[in-house]
Amino acid sequence: MIPRTSVHGEWSTRLAFILAATGSAVGLGNIWRFPYMAGENGGGAFVIVYLLCVLLIGLPIMMSEVLTGRRGRRNPMDSLKAVAEDEGRSTIWQYAGAMGIITGVLILSFYSVVAGWALAYVPNAARGLFAGMTEIQSEMMFDRLTANPWVLLGWHTLFMAMTVAVTIRGVRHGLEKAVRILMPALFVLLLVMVGYAMQIGDFEQAVEFLFRPDFAALGTNGVLAAMGQAFFTLSLGMGAIMIYGSYLPSKASIPGSAVAIALTDTLVAVLAGLAIFPIVFGSLLEPSAGPGLVFMTLPLAFGQMPYGSFFATVFFVLLVFGAWTSAISLMEPIVTWLVERVNLSRVSASLLAGGGIWLLGIGSVLSFNLWSEATLFDRTFFGMLDDLTANIMLPLGGLLIALFAGWVVSRQVSAEELEGAPAWVYPAWRFVIRYITPVAVLAIFLNAIGVFQN
Ligand code: PHE
Repeated sequence: MIPRTSVHGEWSTRLAFILAATGSAVGLGNIWRFPYMAGENGGGAFVIVYLLCVLLIGLPIMMSEVLTGRRGRRNPMDSLKAVAEDEGRSTIWQYAGAMGIITGVLILSFYSVVAGWALAYVPNAARGLFAGMTEIQSEMMFDRLTANPWVLLGWHTLFMAMTVAVTIRGVRHGLEKAVRILMPALFVLLLVMVGYAMQIGDFEQAVEFLFRPDFAALGTNGVLAAMGQAFFTLSLGMGAIMIYGSYLPSKASIPGSAVAIALTDTLVAVLAGLAIFPIVFGSLLEPSAGPGLVFMTLPLAFGQMPYGSFFATVFFVLLVFGAWTSAISLMEPIVTWLVERVNLSRVSASLLAGGGIWLLGIGSVLSFNLWSEATLFDRTFFGMLDDLTANIMLPLGGLLIALFAGWVVSRQVSAEELEGAPAWVYPAWRFVIRYITPVAVLAIFLNAIGVFQN
């Protein structure tokens, strides 16, 4: 068989792929979502389950997505279809890819709104508005932002425009160029932040909170939330990593890349926790403050610290960069699908997808003001989307990809794609992806709907 090529081109090097995939993985999930999820679900026990999920579920699925993408060289739906056809198996598998594309659209619609908060906080920080702020003033600043739909809409629009501006330019000139600039900048900013936190922070309580397991505080929903967080933070289960894999040169080693990406992402989450929680506890605030945690507690703390305005600006720029490189990966599956299936140009596809997602995002914008009382199962539109995508759609997508890579893709094909690692890696991957990963995902689902109770 002649290897397929992607109509969108290839990454120029393996490093470009690693930067892009790490850019996808590292984002609001690490710095905004992880700390408040850990806070709401009891800290240490959540962190342990999340780390186990990264290792036994996330890493093998990441390898599966990359290998499927590289084999198929198309958008997630057609890659699954093409690989299934090669194996002489049912093309029904393409609908797992279709679900992934939809999941990406749903996630980006609310992700962009939160990224908009981060954008809004850059000028707030730079103008020194945090300096000497009281707790009430900090809450008011966040409330003033979220209570005004027009302001929120403005920032959401700007962020979507930034995202479209990158995807419109394509793989080499858009995505690759963006991550080559933004990712090194992000790492430098992060190191600056951690250094700063180490200078001013008292780590003890934060370390205890993050690493001392109290399983009683976790509960069944906490276990599901930890798995959801693992999928969300690694960008798995919706085709983002798969589409990036479809641009990976044939000779580049997949297992080594996957380990580098997952390790960096986990490190960033833990570092973010170690930068944020000392501040949270130091200012006598609650770690379970929910989605507002990073936007109310941190500014307050920055405002009381030496050079606080400078470091707060650095922090929110970092958050924006992380969100931006993730958002382009949330867009890419739908954009490539529109190009390959609907025959749009990349420019039209980016504009159409961006416009549609922008429109959907208005639902999340209104969740914080006009529609804040309109709840279903105790959740706003925003809360529903977050929960539905992270805790159900991503794990379900990941489960299907695991079953696909483990049971549909032949041993010969997966072994060929996963070459270039120590000899034990392939059999270990194959065993885990066939038997461990699917069972673990299913068990956590069943546990969450209460099947194992009594
Ligand atoms: N991993 C990104 C983050 O942690 C979010 C994301 C999820 C990106 C799913 C792509 C796909 O912020």
